[in-house]
Order: sequence, then structure tokens, then C-alpha cells
Amino acid sequence: MTAADLDERTIVIHDAEGFAGMRRAGRLAAEVLDMLVPHVVPGVTTLALDQLAHDFILERGAVPATIFYRGYSHSLCTSVNHVICHGIPSAKALRDGDIVNIDVTVVLDGWHGDTSRMYFVGEPSLKARRLVDITFECLWRGIKAARPGGHLGDIGEAIQTHAEKHRCSVVRDFCGHGLGRRFHMPPNVVHAGRAGTGPELVPGMFFTIEPMLNLGRPDSKILEDGWTAVTRDRSLSAQFEHSVGITEEGVEVFTLSPAGLDRPPYPS
Ligand code: MF3
Ligand code: CO
Ligand code: CO
Repeated sequence: MTAADLDERTIVIHDAEGFAGMRRAGRLAAEVLDMLVPHVVPGVTTLALDQLAHDFILERGAVPATIFYRGYSHSLCTSVNHVICHGIPSAKALRDGDIVNIDVTVVLDGWHGDTSRMYFVGEPSLKARRLVDITFECLWRGIKAARPGGHLGDIGEAIQTHAEKHRCSVVRDFCGHGLGRRFHMPPNVVHAGRAGTGPELVPGMFFTIEPMLNLGRPDSKILEDGWTAVTRDRSLSAQFEHSVGITEEGVEVFTLSPAGLDRPPYPS
């Protein structure tokens, strides 16, 4: 299939070769996040974490998808506390009590593996850890709602219901996305919605589920750097992301942690 055969709304249906490619790319992306676990400590800069990820990805024969992506120039997004997503690695050190989302996308043999996790820096507050736990549960409720014959809206409803039950808000300004041989493709995966709405889920569809939850209002704004998205009310925000594929039986998660480090607190 050539680019000309695809209109902007076409959801690509992948075959067994696609699943094989996504398994390898997804595993490598998860290994980047595993590798970073012992390095996320008070005093480390997010730029140092970015350098570790960059070198690790290149050593494995892959490239970071985010370098040169729309003018972005790092291998990671590092989103601390009230940063919702797209935080840019910097020379500022992480501090005891911070929560940080680290998001990585690798391209391996042309396939994109996109995943993010939360990390605890030292000992975050109880309310911060509670937000992280609820967000992790929302990601998994979204994943479990995905099945062939279902609809994209089933995922959003599962996430929104759980988040709001615990008085957290779901960010509407950013969503998950199809991926595969390209980084961002149709469909848009919104994290709030109504079951039974949206495109039907079909075996061979690949997309991310990446809910962002805030302790306060859902509204975001972008800082002057053109990337960093923060909560307007400066409330804490958390996110987890997996890349998944719809199978005949259900759903396959391409970005599970091979080391079992899927959520904090991580063993030290
Ligand atoms: N990995 C992010 C996502 O989940 C996208 C990051 S784009 C960047 O879609 F340019 F900000 F890195
Ligand atoms: Co993504
Ligand atoms: Co991502």
C-alpha cells in the first residue's frame, strides 16, 4: 500500500508481520523504561535520563521517534507533577516527592513502540500516589474494554467512569493514536466517551491508550516553549501509555515491561 492509497481517516489493518514488528518495537520501548528505573532518584536531571535513553536506543539498533519530530529534539518526554505531557528534558533536577511521567517512542525496523509510565522520586504524597494508582487502573480498564466487534468509545467510557468515580478528571486536549509504520495515524483514541460510539474495533488495528488524569480540572495550556502541556489550575497530573493491537480473541499489549516494572513503587 502506498501513501496515496490512504486517506487521512483510513485506519490501517495490519497482518502477522505487523504484529511481529510491533512486538519487537514495543518490547524495546518498555526496556528503555525498565532501564531508567534505578536512575529516577532525587538530584538526577531529566536531561541525564534523556541521554541514557538515547544511548540505549541507538545501541539496540533503533532510533528515538521524537528526535526531529515537528521540531522536537529529545528522546523522551519527562512530565513532572502538574505537567500533563510533552515535558522537555532539562537541566533541572528531580526532587524528593516529585511524580514524573517518562514517555518514549522507538522506531525499530520501521515499527513504532510508544509507552509511558509514572515514576516516584523519593516519597511522593499520599494524594500523588493515589492519582498514579487511579491512572494506572484507568489504563488497564481501557485496555480490557478493547475487543474485536467493540467500539473505540468503549475504551473512553471505561476510563472516564473509573476516573470520575474517584473524583479525578480526564484530560480532553490530548488523546491516544493509531501507530505502526508511522508514529501518529488514525484513529484518535479519546479517553472519555460513550460505549458503542466511534469506529468498530477490528483485528489488526494498532493504537495507543494513554489516559492523562488530573486531581483538579481537566483544562490544559501549553507553555511558551511550544510543547510543555500543564494543568491550568496547576493540579497534579498523571499518565500511563501502552501500544496495543486488536487480535481475533481480544487485545495484545506490545509494551509490557519485560522486568515486571509496570507501575511504581519500583523495588529499589
Ligand atoms: N510519545 C508521545 C505520544 O504518546 C508523543 C511525543 S511527541 C514529542 O504520543 F514530540 F513531544 F515527543
Ligand atoms: Co502515544
Ligand atoms: Co508516548
